Amino acid sequence: MKKTRAVITGVHGWVPDYILTNRELETMVDTNDEWIVTRTGIKERRILKGENKGTSIIGINAVKGLLEKTNTNPEDIELIICATVTPDMPFPATANIIADGVGATKSYSFDISAACSGFLYALTMGSQFIETGMHKKVIVVGADKMSAIIDYQDRATCIIFGDGGGAVLLEPTEEEVGVMDSLLLSDGSGAPYLHMKAGGSRKPATEETVAAREHYAYQEGSTVFKFAVTNMAEVSAQIMDRNQLVADDIAWLVPHQANKRIIDATANRMGIGPEKVMLNIERYGNTTAGTLPLCLWDYESQLKKGDNIILAAFGGGFTWGSIYLKWGYDPK
Ligand code: UT7
Repeated sequence: MKKTRAVITGVHGWVPDYILTNRELETMVDTNDEWIVTRTGIKERRILKGENKGTSIIGINAVKGLLEKTNTNPEDIELIICATVTPDMPFPATANIIADGVGATKSYSFDISAACSGFLYALTMGSQFIETGMHKKVIVVGADKMSAIIDYQDRATCIIFGDGGGAVLLEPTEEEVGVMDSLLLSDGSGAPYLHMKAGGSRKPATEETVAAREHYAYQEGSTVFKFAVTNMAEVSAQIMDRNQLVADDIAWLVPHQANKRIIDATANRMGIGPEKVMLNIERYGNTTAGTLPLCLWDYESQLKKGDNIILAAFGGGFTWGSIYLKWGYDPK
């Protein structure tokens, strides 16, 4: 019997209209365009402005576009998984709100929290539900409204992050395409270097936590950078090895967009040239769980059926990982 795999049959992204440029950041903190571009590769990022607008807005817009372009009836969706660290609220899950917003009334839905690796975790999990035969249509969303948890007085973090995300539709196939392999890792001893100090059960919100600016993302940038460079490169090389892939076999690397220097190091370790590396950090910055689907969306028209693609990410937790997939369709 042929193996059933999960294949991505559509991808769509969404970013808010407001563009926060390096020039505008220069008016907010002690930084400059030259430093940001050379140290990170980022020129601008998107910000979701307005009252009462959470990550679900990003997810709903991405999923609506996805349903439309794949001609899918929302009532045929059986499961929606949303990877995010900026849920609309601690509960209910943002995925529940997205499902309601797109009319996926016959689905169940839940969130996954794995920071910048969230989309890899969610895609792996969504694929399992397809491979086992439990579901036929699963949507995986990666989205974050990072501006909700960024301290715009902290120049070391506010320059990197932005808002946005995307979604993919997973369906079964018996062809040799789809999610081929997944390698996921985590190490909670990395928590001190990238976390949010207050607002969880360990340190609920008080006037003091607000005054101490503890409801923002805290990052020791250079420590995270060192772990990210080593681990993202290593896990990508490992997934190539165990699938007997050499650099020439790879059509595309889809790297988490946190810092252009981390992306370059990963591509170098894999031995692949810049022409095969998806890059949009310049325009969107680091959208956490949103970066990978946003890349796939941006490059969709260049992808061909059977392309070997490596996705890789590293982030808070620490969490990191890599997925090997064969693209499932030619440009439409
Ligand atoms: O998304 C998942 C996980 N996150 C990441 O993967 C991010 C990993 N980290 C990074 O990308 C980088 O560490 C940053 C972009 C956050 C910072 O770059 P860096 O090259 O590691 O800088 P640094 O923190 O080591 O700081 C170097 C210098 C310091 O000045 P001194 O002490 O050498 O005088 C900083 O104060 O750069 C200074 N600096 C800045 N200068 C201008 C830090 N931020 C800025 C800034 N503008 N925005």
